[in-house]
This record gives sequence, structure tokens and C-alpha cells, in this order.
Amino acid sequence: MEMLSTTSAIRDEFPILEEEVNKHKLVYLDNAASSQKPKVVIDAMSSYYVHHHSNVHRGIHHLSQVATDMFEGAREEMRSFLNAASTKEIIFTSGTTEGINLVATSLSRGVLKAGDEIMITEMEHHSNIVPWQMAATYSGAKLVVVNVTPDGQIDMEDFHSKLSTKTKLLSVVHVSNALGTVNPVKEITAAAKAVGAWVLIDGAQSAPHIQIDVQDLNCDFFTLSGHKMYGPTGSGVLYGREDVLNEIPPYKGGGEMIETVTFEKTTYNELPFKFEAGTPDIAAALGLAEASRFIKRLGYDQIAQTEAELMSYATEKLGEIEGIQFIGTAPKKSGAISFLIEGTHPSDVGTIIDKLGVAVRTGHHCTQPLMAKFGIPGTIRASFAVYNTKEEVDTFVTAVKRAVKMLK
Ligand code: ALA
Repeated sequence: MEMLSTTSAIRDEFPILEEEVNKHKLVYLDNAASSQKPKVVIDAMSSYYVHHHSNVHRGIHHLSQVATDMFEGAREEMRSFLNAASTKEIIFTSGTTEGINLVATSLSRGVLKAGDEIMITEMEHHSNIVPWQMAATYSGAKLVVVNVTPDGQIDMEDFHSKLSTKTKLLSVVHVSNALGTVNPVKEITAAAKAVGAWVLIDGAQSAPHIQIDVQDLNCDFFTLSGHKMYGPTGSGVLYGREDVLNEIPPYKGGGEMIETVTFEKTTYNELPFKFEAGTPDIAAALGLAEASRFIKRLGYDQIAQTEAELMSYATEKLGEIEGIQFIGTAPKKSGAISFLIEGTHPSDVGTIIDKLGVAVRTGHHCTQPLMAKFGIPGTIRASFAVYNTKEEVDTFVTAVKRAVKMLK
């Protein structure tokens, strides 16, 4: 297997990077929204459909057994990716949103009670706010929100002052999608567990950039989205600690998640199947496992070094633009840079640089409460992957400068 030690070898794995957009070579800096896919992921999914597809866990015929073995092999790959203790703790989902909804819905069915508190922070994505608001509404529990500091970090003093034995669950983002802040989740988890809370870490933006070890983090739940880590859309994993998953009720009802069904009573399947009702997205799970192998081939050291260099180079170059204001200046950041330029609107800048082939995200980034906290409607966000280059950063910064000139 070819080593992926040079940027050009890495880029060769991603056919889409050769595309032109508006007659310019694509510069893709919207990786926090969704990363591009290497050939190995595309091929794994296509080969599965061409040669091996059947439903899983249901048939005694050859193809069903092959597909089941492949699907369970993907589960083992994701167990190893997260260093979970057992494949019983790996639940395939459609992504982080479903993972969080699974936990929130389950907990709102008799686990959370009036008097309990659910703790989140001001920097959460809507997918880590709304499911907990719903869980609070249905269970009578109270939603408690931890403040963010002006530079975009979790206010640890506020966190400690709001944490108490009433805190039943803490759900916190590992890396902020809007600011790029890397949160001290191990420290936060230890403090929350000391008061008896369960901890969910939203790893949608960390899994693409940072090696995850759920046993070391000591969290109860961890969610990731495949499509942000070089895998397919519609893929994801919820890690849940085995004893906690055994304690909480199922999410969706249907086939696969049952042991026996009568009209009087249903008993549930063992883990992880208790949480996997219906036919799963088998091809997506296989693609996700291939993305995990791809990341292992690259190694997180290489990913972290490349991306840190890009982030610091882009921050320096953008800093030359008059009137630039960085939103989120925490000392530990990963993946994303958010900014505003005085006298311009983010969406105008984004639209102009798109005409020059540069893809970034503009707007509130599904973090409206965080934007409200900063008193802004949104930002321009450039987000990086291992295949990006300094030349692309130069193209991006030149495009932003042109946009500013046109708009001012
Ligand atoms: N959560 C994704 C983003 O930050 C969609 O862009």
C-alpha cells in the first residue's frame, strides 16, 4: 500500500480535488461542514454493492452471511478507532445528530426526572442543544448552560459553579465547529463524573483531527459523524459505555432490536443491537470503517502537524487584512478559523470567493446562541483537512482580499 507521506500522494487519493469550480481550480476549505472522500472509501462502498450486498443479521444464505461479516468487521474497526472496550459499545448511527438524539430521547423516557439537570455549554451546535431542550421538556429536567469566555473557551469557573449532584448528564463539544476551540474534555469529564453525572462528548469535529480514546477520556458516550472524517454521509457511531447502555431504554423500535415480540410484551435484543432498529446503512458503515483505516494510514501525528501549519499560516496571512476580526482566539484550536471583516457581510464575501473557486462556509454555523453571545449574525469560516496546502491558503486569502476591495 502506497505511503501517504506527501501532500501530493494524499491529494491523489481525492479525485474531487481536481474539479474546477467557476472555471477555477477548486480550493475546498469547508471541511468542518463535510470533508471530501478518498478513493478507498468510494471503492469500498461501490465494491460492496457490486459484489456483496444483502441484508445483515437476517439470512442464512451466503450473501447475507458475507454482508453480516463485513458489517460486524466495520464495527470492530470502529471499536479499535475509538479504543472502546467492546463492540457492544459501538452503535452505528447516521451521524452525530442521531447519536445525540438517541441518548437524549432514551434518557427522557423515565431516566431523567424533575429536579435533575442537563448541562451543556454556550458553544454547542444546535444538534447538542435542541435534543436536550426536548429531553428537558418531556422529562421535567432543567437545562443548565455553561458560559463561554470572550476568546471562545468554556468558562471553567462557571462550569464548576454550576456543576452539582443534580447534574445527571453533561453534554459537551470536544472541538467547536464555529470557533475551532479544543475543549479540555478529559478534565471536564473527570469533574462531572466526580458528582455522579454521565458525560456525552460531541466528537463530530474532533474525530477528524485528534486521536480519540474513549477509555482514556472516561466518558459515557461519544458521538462522531463519518462524513466529517473522510467517510460517507449517513454514517456515524455512538459509543456508549456498556453498563450505561444496558441501563437506558431503547430509542427506535422495530426489527433487529428485539428478542421476542408478543402483543402483550416485547423483550429487547442484547447490545449493540438493542439500539439498531431496522436495516442499517451497511454500505455507509463499510465506508466509515475504510475512512478509519485511511486515517490510521495517515496517522494523527501527520494530520495534526499539517493542519496546525495550515491554521497558523492562514491566521498570519488573514491577519494582514485591514479590519479583520477573528472570532474565537483560544490558545488550543483545531480545524477551523472564523472571522469577520469590518464593513463587509460574511455571505457577500463567501459568494464572491466562490466565484473564484474557493469554498468556505458563512453564517451562524448552526450555533445561533454562540453567535448571539458574540453579538454577531455569523462569520466566515475556513476549515481545513489534511489534503489542503499553503498554496490553497494563498489563493483563499487573495480571494478574500479581492472580495473586500469590491465590497468596501
Ligand atoms: N456542523 C456542520 C458545520 O459546522 C454542518 O458546518
